[in-house]
Amino acid sequence: MVGIARLTEKQKKIQEYLKTAWELSDRSIARILGVSHSTVGLVRQEMKKSGQFDHLCNDDSEWMNHPYIQANKGLLETLNPRGLRAIKRLDVLDYMMTHPQIKSPCVAQAYLEREKRQKRKDARVVLNINDVDIRVADVRQVGQFDWIRDNSVDLCICDPPWGKSSPVVCEGISKVAATKLRDGGSLLVLVGGSYLPDVITALSSDKRLRYHWLLTCKLPQGSPASVSWLKVQSKVRLVLWFVKGKYIGDIVADYIDRPTSDNTTDKSHHEWGAPEELVSELIRRFTDPGDTIADFTVGGGTTAVSSVLLGRRFLGTDIDAEAIKTTMRRVRRLFGYTK
Ligand SMILES: C[S@@+](CC[C@H](N)C(=O)[O-])C[C@H]1O[C@@H](n2cnc3c(N)ncnc32)[C@H](O)[C@@H]1O
Repeated sequence: MVGIARLTEKQKKIQEYLKTAWELSDRSIARILGVSHSTVGLVRQEMKKSGQFDHLCNDDSEWMNHPYIQANKGLLETLNPRGLRAIKRLDVLDYMMTHPQIKSPCVAQAYLEREKRQKRKDARVVLNINDVDIRVADVRQVGQFDWIRDNSVDLCICDPPWGKSSPVVCEGISKVAATKLRDGGSLLVLVGGSYLPDVITALSSDKRLRYHWLLTCKLPQGSPASVSWLKVQSKVRLVLWFVKGKYIGDIVADYIDRPTSDNTTDKSHHEWGAPEELVSELIRRFTDPGDTIADFTVGGGTTAVSSVLLGRRFLGTDIDAEAIKTTMRRVRRLFGYTK
């Protein structure tokens, strides 16, 4: 068998299908691609051996028992990887059940997202404290995030440390975000200018996420003006934008002008607090009320507070128990609790 690094075109195609739907049998993939099932089996074995695809081997087969699949088994054999990704979503399958005139999972997914967006825009969302869950966890340990449902988060925003430890924390963010984001969801990471090449590499380490664009934001009054040891006066904040699969959402402008409020309190809850107006603007541009936002390096809680004020559900973690206490205190206050 040819090693995983030197794949033929046929083997590459098989690998693409396996990456999309590992849970399909060798025979199903063989039928889709018109190859022999033993060839599919060999590519699968090589992928297993390489250890690079361990994240694919979780049991993600619930969709295959869906009544729509049971009644339309032949459909699977007509799908390209994009169609397969769409049909694995239970809400897409439900939609196809109730809209039998729609035969394409990609079309169903597009209609579903449009309907959902419209509903969310029309809805008046009233949150309560149970819509916010914030816990101590180390983002380098993906197992500490089992309490967040896979594929359930609409947007991840993280502001990891900017020093030497940044790449290793970003590698964790990449893995956790790739697992928890819904297909088409975005990961936004506030970054500093140094260590940027390593940070981008680390954030790209989970292949389910792809670098999409760079957003910039003029810094508000009150932010530290310089990175003194590098002799740089920092006037903009950089935000790296990654997407899981194909971006599903509105057109987003990549420049955020000076935030309207003269925010001098960024650092009052955390030494490295992010500008609240920037975070709020990102939330407005990337999500709708009722959506779920996650931050795995929540610090003093800027993302939590902005999410709640804008009617978004929030899931947050930090390795530092004190940071979690500060964030919880701020969030509880928003819901009228005094302690
Ligand atoms: C730049 S601060 C975040 C500040 C936050 N955006 C705010 O506005 O307050 C970075 C945070 O990442 C947390 N952190 C560092 N390493 C981590 C890890 N491995 N897992 C989770 N959090 C981590 C730190 O405790 C710190 O609170």
